[in-house]
Amino acid sequence: ELAGTTELLLSRIRDVPDYPEPGVMFKDITPLLADPEAFAALTEALAGLAVRHGATKIVGLEARGFILGAPVALRAGLGFIPVRKAGKLPGATLSQSYDLEYGSAEIEVHAEDLAADDRVMVIDDVLATGGTAEASLRLIRRAGAQVAGVAVLMELGFLGGRAKLETALEGAPLAAL
Ligand code: PRP
Repeated sequence: ELAGTTELLLSRIRDVPDYPEPGVMFKDITPLLADPEAFAALTEALAGLAVRHGATKIVGLEARGFILGAPVALRAGLGFIPVRKAGKLPGATLSQSYDLEYGSAEIEVHAEDLAADDRVMVIDDVLATGGTAEASLRLIRRAGAQVAGVAVLMELGFLGGRAKLETALEGAPLAAL
């Protein structure tokens, strides 16, 4: 069952060479999203992780983390909280900047959406360098909430994201399907 799911998911991820720049192999999940059986299997697997680890809220990371995180939240019966790129949220936000290969980026969350008794599962499609996920964990902790874990479809192991996240996870799980 699990092995079958992994095979199905893998078969629906398209490798696009030299995108967005030469030398990069882009992992395109749009074929998976277009296949309702694969999309449902992915949603089910991620929702199962959230429930198993006692999550009370789902955080999705813009933009592909929204596509995956929203159905996961509904499936798990939990609220969905978007972590957005800077300047997109209208209310009182917490901001966290993080380093990119060249320059930096900033993400934000509505502080009032997270409470001290929340345990948050972060959902995204890809863990690459781990910069985005690490910044999201900082936001969650700065909002006073707890981290239930991080769950992604894919981990690009050669980029070292798992090691980068270790401190911020404080023992919470990082699951990559
Ligand atoms: C991609 C991906 C993750 C992040 C992973 O998003 O969906 O959110 O990068 O990279 P990292 O582990 O090195 O931080 P991107 O920033 O391309 O945003 P998008 O989904 O809005 O295109």
